Amino acid sequence: MKSFRDKRRDGRPHPARAEQSRPREAFAAGRQQATPAERRETKPADRQEARPAPRVLARREGTLPAERLPLILEVAPNADYALLDSGAGEKLEQYGPYRIVRPEGQAIWQRALPAKEWERADAIFTGDTDEEGIGRWRFPKAPLGETWPMKHDGIDYLGRFTSFRHVGVFPEQASHWDHMAGLIAAAKRPVKVLNLFGYTGLASLVAARAGAEVTHVDASKKAIGWARENQEMAGLADKPIRWIVEDAVKFAEREERRGSRYDIVLFDPPAYGRGPKGEVWQLFEDLPGLTDLCRSILTPKPLAVVLTAYSIRASFFAIHALMRDTFAGMGGTVESGELIIREKSAGRALSTSLFSRWVA
Ligand SMILES: C[S@@+](CC[C@H](N)C(=O)[O-])C[C@H]1O[C@@H](n2cnc3c(N)ncnc32)[C@H](O)[C@@H]1O
Repeated sequence: MKSFRDKRRDGRPHPARAEQSRPREAFAAGRQQATPAERRETKPADRQEARPAPRVLARREGTLPAERLPLILEVAPNADYALLDSGAGEKLEQYGPYRIVRPEGQAIWQRALPAKEWERADAIFTGDTDEEGIGRWRFPKAPLGETWPMKHDGIDYLGRFTSFRHVGVFPEQASHWDHMAGLIAAAKRPVKVLNLFGYTGLASLVAARAGAEVTHVDASKKAIGWARENQEMAGLADKPIRWIVEDAVKFAEREERRGSRYDIVLFDPPAYGRGPKGEVWQLFEDLPGLTDLCRSILTPKPLAVVLTAYSIRASFFAIHALMRDTFAGMGGTVESGELIIREKSAGRALSTSLFSRWVA
């Protein structure tokens, strides 16, 4: 039987939605980027798995949660990470010991720092973002290894030059991590956190350090390997984190059937991605079903559900309406807006993602 995700079985991006307007591009399982060729390659009968049961979506009954928007959550420059400058289609960031230059389509303004500051970069990512391999990284001063030590709020982890342009962390997510850690601490009871599309696991580590029992799900075995390394680095190996390589939707469906429940759910899905068995994730088609699933796997006294979205042509009003409708009858508040990073040089804001979160 087909599930709600099988509506579009050809695996192609929806034509009207394929264009991306935000900087964090598509993530596919195993590596972070599905090339246009890969997307075209996906055929109905090849690597895609049918899911067990269709999810019939109906509007939830009840009063809509209160709302708070727009809410702009900002990450300011700090000792571990700073957006030093931006402009002319690029950004200059400090990740621990390294200065890194990467393309930034939104930086349509002029650089504020002089060229000599940009020339001090340790690593530069240039060129066509569809290309695979570490070859797109250039190290102008000295060759660098794949990883380097980083810290977030006292948690040690590894930055890494990945194929595609990512560096193993999305610093703008720190606003969500702090909020979540506050909720876990304030609950003063055992808290279970589900981190879907968890990548290298920073959110999972923050939640575990705050005292939660964490389930971390990602389609990429490689990303889960990196996340486990980060757990070791952080000295949190004894904390209860389950690392699961699985399709996010399939996992949530299974948890619903098994009666497993969570107090906090985080989900940060890409615009386009693949589960480990080739399951196609298309944000516009699959997000309503997954949001509904997230509601149905909450404990009777849940704390929050946090959704982030990027690389999509949509406003935060869209995911706000989805979250508010989905959490009808649950009380609480839906807060929505953007995650931004404040630049050190001239104080300009770089928007990275849209978010919407339901807080009890
Ligand atoms: C942008 S990353 C999430 C970043 C993460 N929230 C963080 O802050 O570090 C998106 C992740 O989704 C994963 N992914 C893509 N499709 C998936 C799917 N169908 N099921 C589970 N994970 C998937 C990718 O492997 C990638 O690690």
